[in-house]
Amino acid sequence: MTPETSDLKALIEKRVRDVADFPEPGVVFKDITPLLGDVDAFRAVVDALGDGYGPIDAVAGLEARGFVFAAPVALALGAAFVPIRKVGKLPARTLRRTYDLEYGSATVEVHADAFTPGARVLIVDDVLATGGTARAAADLVREAGGTVVGFSVVMELAFLNGRDRLTDVPLRALTTV
Ligand code: PRP
Ligand code: MG
Repeated sequence: MTPETSDLKALIEKRVRDVADFPEPGVVFKDITPLLGDVDAFRAVVDALGDGYGPIDAVAGLEARGFVFAAPVALALGAAFVPIRKVGKLPARTLRRTYDLEYGSATVEVHADAFTPGARVLIVDDVLATGGTARAAADLVREAGGTVVGFSVVMELAFLNGRDRLTDVPLRALTTV
C-alpha cells in the first residue's frame, strides 16, 4: 500500500459514520454524509475514483448515493454521465435488472440508447455490499452496448463478499472494511 493510499483510506474511514439498526434492526448503515461535508475529502475521493483508467466515454452512476460521486467523476474525466435509476424513473425506452439487496430487493434501469456501441464506461457507486447492485449495473451497461472498464466504489464491505459476483469486472474500492 502506498502512503497516499493509506492516507486516503484513513481519510474516508474517519468520515463515514456507522449508524446501527438503520434502515432495519441488525443492519449497520454506512453514512457518507460526513465525507460529503468535507470539501477536501470529497474532492480527494472523486479524484481517486476516476484516476488512471485512460480515456472514458461515460461514467454510469447508481441512484441515489452513486449519483453523488459519479457525476463529479464524469466532469473530472471529461466524460458523459449516465444515470442507472430505480425502476419507473427514466422516461425513454429502458433495459432493466432485478436483484436482491442486503435488505430487500430492487430493480434498476438504464436508457437503452445511453451508450454509443463500444463506449468505454466506468461505473461508480458509494458502497459495494452484496454486489447485487454492481452486478446488475455491469450487466445493464453491457446489454446497452457499453464496455465496462471498471467499477469504482468508495467503500467495500468485505464480509458480504460482493467482490465474488464481479470477477469479470475490474473492481476498485478506495477502502475495504
Ligand atoms: C446501497 C448502496 C449501493 C448498494 C450496495 O444502495 O448505495 O448502491 O446498496 O448494496 P449491494 O452491493 O448489496 O447491492 P441502496 O439501494 O440502499 O439505495 P440508495 O443508494 O438509493 O440509498
Ligand atoms: Mg445505492
